[in-house]
Amino acid sequence: MAGRLLYEHQADGTIHSYFRYESSWVGDPDAFPLDPVNLPLGSEVFRLRSRSGLWGVLEDALPDAWGRRLLQARHGIDVSRRNNIDLLLLTGWAEPGATGFSGTTAMPAGLVRPMDLDMTDQAISAAETFEQNADAVSLPDFFISGGSSAGGARPKVLARSGTVLYLVKFPSINDPSPHLMGLLESFGLACARRAGIPVPEFFTIEPRPGRVALAVRRFDIGKRNGRHHFLSFQSLVGTEEQLGLPYARMAGILRQVSADPETDIGNLFKQMVVNILICNRDDHLKNFSMIFDPGLAGYRLTPAYDMVPNLWQMQHVLSVNSRTRDITRKDLLAEGSRFALSTRRSRRLVDAAVRGVRTALADHRRILDQLAAENRLCARLLDNIRRNLAAMAPPAGRTA
Ligand SMILES: Nc1ncnc2c1ncn2[C@@H]1O[C@H](COP(=O)(O)OP(=O)(O)O)[C@@H](O)[C@H]1O
Ligand SMILES: [Mg+2]
Repeated sequence: MAGRLLYEHQADGTIHSYFRYESSWVGDPDAFPLDPVNLPLGSEVFRLRSRSGLWGVLEDALPDAWGRRLLQARHGIDVSRRNNIDLLLLTGWAEPGATGFSGTTAMPAGLVRPMDLDMTDQAISAAETFEQNADAVSLPDFFISGGSSAGGARPKVLARSGTVLYLVKFPSINDPSPHLMGLLESFGLACARRAGIPVPEFFTIEPRPGRVALAVRRFDIGKRNGRHHFLSFQSLVGTEEQLGLPYARMAGILRQVSADPETDIGNLFKQMVVNILICNRDDHLKNFSMIFDPGLAGYRLTPAYDMVPNLWQMQHVLSVNSRTRDITRKDLLAEGSRFALSTRRSRRLVDAAVRGVRTALADHRRILDQLAAENRLCARLLDNIRRNLAAMAPPAGRTA
């Protein structure tokens, strides 16, 4: 057991919480802090007064919009944030990640049972019916057990194929078409990979023509299928107000706690540049995380995830040189200085990102042109990506 949480509901609706690591945990040579910034390992009692009563790292274990809808449908409970502590106890083991919660000192209940990847077709249909009318469906068990823990808003489920574990994201009935988002996210991840950013293995699944799901291999699975703990930058930064927060805020945390800050800061910078280039504007702090690597006995930036060119949002969530739109090459380089990168290194990283996105664009050209022909928003998106690439390329006359 890592630690204990005590809490008291206050008359004003807030919750006073106290957290302390178990002495057996602190004394274990393999122990690690659940949050290296806000809950460093030690014997201190941490205190918090908030609406949810939970430190960010514990809230991370709870689902967001999608999983909460499933929990509400299955258990008919209050799924608002003020009921987060009860939801955690109901969740038991939370996946992805490695945390589990119990109201006693007994081990948590509720092991996650992932769906078999071969069931993707049925799962897409179940997700569709559920989105149409959450009250009217009886959900397959794998949907609750494998689907209600992961964060994020889009329909998804945890799945396995043999011994390999995946996160599978489905089309939503709110998408312009049921193949669009899977294909766009696959392109987004391909851009990151081409730019040399670590990305988990991923592939699209089209169990029936026109409906595309995206499977991403889980990065929190270690040797012999053990789970690794990770937490979002929302928890690490410890803020709920993230609109316009500089990307460099995450770089500061990497410098402070990463086991390999040089590599991680470079990769985060490239990820920022790719996000700008491909209009991945839903770049909020839950879409970036750090994971504990037992081999290194330290935290690292996770591989990139949820990199989706965005059809609707006009502004980024995080800022680059204090801007959330109309970001230029100069802004990227200025943010590079805030990352404490030399101008030379920032330039190289921007150029690597531009080359990566260009290559991915060429690789996906046929499919992207087809999507643009089908959908006006997609056509505009593709134009914007091409315009960004032209604007962010090195100025004429400079090669590196
Ligand atoms: N490859 C992965 N391995 C483990 N956890 C992941 C992986 N990809 C995403 N996650 C976790 O699942 C959450 C939801 O995934 P995400 O792709 O962000 O979905 P959404 O588009 O609904 O936001 C993420 O916030 C992250 O915590
Ligand atoms: Mg997300």
